[in-house]
Amino acid sequence: MDIKTSILRMIRQSSGYVSGQSLCEALGVSRTAVWKYVNQLKEEGYEFDAVSNKGYRIVKYPDIITREEIESMLPEGLAVTNVVYYHETDSTNTRAKQAAEDGEKSGTLFITECQTGGRGRRGRTWESPAGSGIWMSLLLRPEIKPFDASMLTIVAAMGMKDAIEEIIGAGDGAGDEDGAGNSAGDGAGKGGIHCKIKWPNDIVLGDRKICGMLTEMSAETDWINYVVIGIGVNVNTTEFDDSIKDTASSILLQTGSSVKRSDIVVAFAKHFSKYYDEFLKKCNLSGLADDYNKALINVGRDVKIVERDGSFVAKAVGIDETGSLIVEKDGNTQRIVAGEVSVRGLYGYV
Ligand code: BTN
Repeated sequence: MDIKTSILRMIRQSSGYVSGQSLCEALGVSRTAVWKYVNQLKEEGYEFDAVSNKGYRIVKYPDIITREEIESMLPEGLAVTNVVYYHETDSTNTRAKQAAEDGEKSGTLFITECQTGGRGRRGRTWESPAGSGIWMSLLLRPEIKPFDASMLTIVAAMGMKDAIEEIIGAGDGAGDEDGAGNSAGDGAGKGGIHCKIKWPNDIVLGDRKICGMLTEMSAETDWINYVVIGIGVNVNTTEFDDSIKDTASSILLQTGSSVKRSDIVVAFAKHFSKYYDEFLKKCNLSGLADDYNKALINVGRDVKIVERDGSFVAKAVGIDETGSLIVEKDGNTQRIVAGEVSVRGLYGYV
């Protein structure tokens, strides 16, 4: 870990002041070097309380999603291991795919403040303005069959659902319960707000979409080169384009709380890893299907299944352990495979 991230991590993890001397000793650098990095952090918006003979304490954390901010909170041993940050880029999915082709390791998370060419599913564009959302892509190289890769998108949806619930449930979102710049608590949905999922992987709050995912893969017949899971979360967004304003929303608009985005990213890394490890062991979704189905907004509702050559209406039952949506029509059940069709509510988005 680099020095700036280590300074941030040590101050974050301490309940009190961290002396300049202990930072110098732990990191093997001079006082001047520590002072230089502290000044850089101040410029990025971290507010320090520096007291002589005591040391440093951070009293306010900015809502930024830089590599240092995220890596300084990232526990070890997760499926997300490191971060590549762009102030602005075309699309984090495109960046992740390019880096994967160049040999970047599994577990790298590409994240940006703003996308100029954000991509959604089915060739749509994805609005990605600066300052209000999370636009990120996780590069993975799982040793599974290419056919099984579509299940990863369900694993990611559950990871993000748990992450958002953990952070929304942790208080006022922007708050800092433990004094360490982490507002994460451990009571999922403690505040009584629960996310729903629209099959396969849209996250829904108050019947509005707040998060979408675009999974892309490079594979041979029986071997995956890499998978990129691109995730867009409308966190503090307040304005949407006319084309999506009736279906899209944000965590802020739905809960009234502004949330520190890095808390969600780190909570996602934690929850995603939990589900991903289990998925890799079983190569199916049996470990999460019950919880997924509890969150599935489509259950018991009529959905319109739009295929290439027509559409039909059926009642959604839930997913099976492959992630397919089971629907019922005229007493018969049918499996709908993600990626092949689009599922819509009869009277609107859900
Ligand atoms: C959808 O249509 O619901 C999927 C939206 C996926 C958007 C994310 S934002 C980060 C990543 N980069 C992209 O260009 N798209 C994904």
